[in-house]
Amino acid sequence: MIDKIKEELGKVFYPGKTNSVIKEGVIGNISIDDGVASIELLMKEDNANAIQILQKSIPSAIKNIEGVKDVNLIINLPKHDQEPPKLQHIRYILATTSGKGGVGKSTVSVNLAISLSKFGYKVGLLDADIYGPNIPRMMGIEGVPVALDPKNKDKILPIVKYGVKIISIGSMIPKDAAVIWRGPLINQVIKQFLNDVTWDELDFLIVDLPPGTGDAQLTLAQEAKVSGGVIVTTPQTVALDDAAKAYDFFVKLKVPVVGVIENMSYFVCPKCGYKADIFSHGGGKTFAQKVKIPFLGEIPIDIQIREGGDEGSPVSVSNPDSVVAKAFADAARSIIETLKNA
Ligand SMILES: Nc1ncnc2c1ncn2[C@@H]1O[C@H](COP(=O)(O)OP(=O)(O)OP(=O)(O)O)[C@@H](O)[C@H]1O
Ligand SMILES: [Mg+2]
Repeated sequence: MIDKIKEELGKVFYPGKTNSVIKEGVIGNISIDDGVASIELLMKEDNANAIQILQKSIPSAIKNIEGVKDVNLIINLPKHDQEPPKLQHIRYILATTSGKGGVGKSTVSVNLAISLSKFGYKVGLLDADIYGPNIPRMMGIEGVPVALDPKNKDKILPIVKYGVKIISIGSMIPKDAAVIWRGPLINQVIKQFLNDVTWDELDFLIVDLPPGTGDAQLTLAQEAKVSGGVIVTTPQTVALDDAAKAYDFFVKLKVPVVGVIENMSYFVCPKCGYKADIFSHGGGKTFAQKVKIPFLGEIPIDIQIREGGDEGSPVSVSNPDSVVAKAFADAARSIIETLKNA
């Protein structure tokens, strides 16, 4: 069967090249265990775009081979001799990530940032979602433009709201303008957001990443030493499968993961008190236990969270005594504990 797999892989092009993945020499070990084909992909370049294409094209090329029930692609990134630089003025960089979109990364980023700021820390929030920046709306700074730093014209001043210093591409482009930038520009923007913004001294910089395993994740991990990734997931199986991919990608990028937050964990009917597990329940904790990382808590589905996001007044500000605001604060506390013991 391995010969058949190799034959099929001989038809899969390496993205942007005229050679197959076999000829490009990026296929490592191939093994079969109980119908699961494990294929090692030995990337020679940090090309998130190519990885994303191969994550689809390789499994689809071999999944129809008789006897293959599932495909497990093991991605190896090229080794870098250099460690990413530690940004001296920022004590901890935290990055929220997920495999699936819309699971609540930005909501978690915003409420964690506010919780940490309320604990008395100096906090920054970097919106690394260049295509769909949601942070300005969620933090109530939509339409507020950034300004150059009068003390250093090569730098931009972050916008301060709810005690948090914020930078987002959304504060630099007209609302509704579609962003059609490609990879390299994303790298540039993230680099600039890290280095050309007057952050001054920060205890925490929260980076709100777009979903998936792409350029933003890669660039961040290369440009700065990230202290901890925060995996955000909803409890249902499809979201957890993707959370596992996001986790694996951070492990590959040598980003330590501080834990998992299960968002949209359950719903308590405000009228009758009935608790419904809309997206199932407990998957986040099970996943955290499986990969041996801390479970940072569960955030229920709550209309105040959605309203707070839409209205630019996050629940951690508008209703700090609510169950959900306390859940975000507890998650922030657990993160601090994990970092302290790291
Ligand atoms: N626990 C929750 N209860 C109710 N609504 C929520 C909850 N978490 C998030 N939402 C809402 O769900 C929507 C998606 O959340 P959010 O934008 O934070 O997800 P995301 O993972 O950042 O999405 P994307 O992948 O597009 O960046 C938002 O409207 C948000 O207000
Ligand atoms: Mg988001």
